[in-house]
Amino acid sequence: MLIAQISDTHILARSSDQAAGAARAETLRQCIADINRQGVDVVLHTGDAVHHGAAEDYAYLREILAGLEAPLFLIPGNRDRREALRAAFSHVSYLPRNGGFLHYVIEDYPVRLVAMDSVAEGERKGEFCARRLAWLEETLAREPDRPTILFIHHPPFDIARHFVGGYRRPKDAEDLAAVVKRHPQVGQLLCGHVHFLHREPWGGTAATTMPSVALDLRKEVDAAIEAAPLYLLHVASSNGGLVSHTRIVTP
Ligand SMILES: [Fe+2]
Repeated sequence: MLIAQISDTHILARSSDQAAGAARAETLRQCIADINRQGVDVVLHTGDAVHHGAAEDYAYLREILAGLEAPLFLIPGNRDRREALRAAFSHVSYLPRNGGFLHYVIEDYPVRLVAMDSVAEGERKGEFCARRLAWLEETLAREPDRPTILFIHHPPFDIARHFVGGYRRPKDAEDLAAVVKRHPQVGQLLCGHVHFLHREPWGGTAATTMPSVALDLRKEVDAAIEAAPLYLLHVASSNGGLVSHTRIVTP
């Protein structure tokens, strides 16, 4: 199963006078064209889809994403706003419509895809309250034998010097790791938020963050590829393990 991961596209409204707006839209279009050429099964967007959370941002995002051939599953980041996102993507069936958290499970593929909503609206930091952890526990317990990939915007661990104390309550990340540790079918956690590539052991599995698709916000990327759009391609094996490639998009 071939999975493309994009993240932190930070799209601005088409009418925005911010200089980065047109460039971010173009970079995302280039990634989409490349993803279409790879024959991927699904595309995961790990949050911060738009920059201001406005309806106009989402309208432009939706217009750009219409070029994508494979099914897309997205989760909110701290820049997103749940209600605006839900309204803009009312045509997709996987997002819950009940006004609560935007998390869900996709059961249609050899690997089960579990999306967690880590957003504390209006805050940069993430949050895992008891309700969310209970949902995850129950969701993972339902299919203990199916290989699973979990995706969450905020990485639930510190990354020295770059990202420290990313959750509202320090214990949130610990509690989340404890839940995942009880469910060894989780083969990997995929995250966004920090805008650079990082991998480490976490919760009995491996966790990966990725560079932002938005070039002007990308961090820690080698100067040789500084100007090239990039995203991640994950080849998922039948046990849920991933072989991951950084896909550098060339014209
Ligand atoms: Fe971001």
